[in-house]
Amino acid sequence: MAEGRGPGIRTRVAAVNRDHPDPAVIQEAARVIQNGGRVAFPTETVYGLGANALDHDSVAAIFAAKGRPADNPLIVHVADPATVDLLAAEVTPLARRLMAACWPGPLTLVLQKSEMVPEATTAGLDSVAVRMPDHPVAGALLRAAGVPIAAPSANRSGHPSPTTAAHVLADLDGRIEMVLDAGPCRVGLESTVVDARGRRPVILRPGAVTETRLRDLGDPPRTGDLAGGEPIRSPGTRHRHYAPRALVELHEGADAIGRISARYQEAVRAGRRVHVVLSTEGAARWPNARQDVIVVAPRDDHAAWAERLYGLLWDADARGDELLLVEGIEPEGLGVAVLDRLRRAAAR
Ligand code: TXA
Ligand code: MG
Repeated sequence: MAEGRGPGIRTRVAAVNRDHPDPAVIQEAARVIQNGGRVAFPTETVYGLGANALDHDSVAAIFAAKGRPADNPLIVHVADPATVDLLAAEVTPLARRLMAACWPGPLTLVLQKSEMVPEATTAGLDSVAVRMPDHPVAGALLRAAGVPIAAPSANRSGHPSPTTAAHVLADLDGRIEMVLDAGPCRVGLESTVVDARGRRPVILRPGAVTETRLRDLGDPPRTGDLAGGEPIRSPGTRHRHYAPRALVELHEGADAIGRISARYQEAVRAGRRVHVVLSTEGAARWPNARQDVIVVAPRDDHAAWAERLYGLLWDADARGDELLLVEGIEPEGLGVAVLDRLRRAAAR
């Protein structure tokens, strides 16, 4: 397997039924992982690029395929909460509460790491991020592989996260051993990353488990540092992220439609390939022709925005758009994570 790694290898794509994955296909994927290879697989959030989290060379092969900076640690996926007792030196009462309430599900917990986890997986940190995904294919693969699976999102570093196998292949065909295709991901954006080493959760990356949900569980999260300054973020959030080739412009606030319209007319006059992404309400006020408009959902349907988000960015590249003008939604509930990703996609 080792000599096959790197650009130019054949990537096997296997279709699997989401709810009843074929055991023979899962076995084959598990063997790839056990032999040190990489398998892209669906989770409820986005597709992950998996390899044996306990093996240095397997993990290094993930970084190589993605072109990921070595200082950005990976999330270790587990088949059950019991595995966390092996990976973490200390499982805090907070972590146990959050696991009981949210797993399997889109919540990643950062804990003190044990000796078992190689430094390559955690990018040299003394902490490890763990998550139990809520997807039958991911669960079956984790059980069959019999090892925890390190899996970042299955995209080239800096690109949007993949929510379909086609997105994975657009970035990683010829660079990884296998892709399990079980159709689109339900949530559409990544897990919430929470530091659970203390008594209160600290949100390091907003995601599918909202701040409101954490609060409802009786754990009011902290988002800023103790001095009340800069928010604490996970290492990965320092890097440029989620950006398609098209230039993304995000317009927020009351006058967003007016500004998008002006930018749209300017782009059309200049002969640029442009599309406009609007809410249902925004589209009702759109003063121009409709052919370049993509209507996502009502502004408060945050789940629909999350589900569509990365597909919109991948589609822009597939069409060869030069400019994507996007209407921002309110940062409430899941909208916080949607807006976080859109702001990063738009950052230059
Ligand atoms: O939903 C998800 O979380 C997906 C699916 C595949 O599970 N995975 C994912 O992985 O989004 P990735 O690598 O794209 O993002 C992982 C984030 C990064 O921002 C990384 O810096 C952070 O988690 N992270 C990982 N280990 C950490 C640690 N020990 N301390 C702080 N942040 C950590
Ligand atoms: Mg990622």
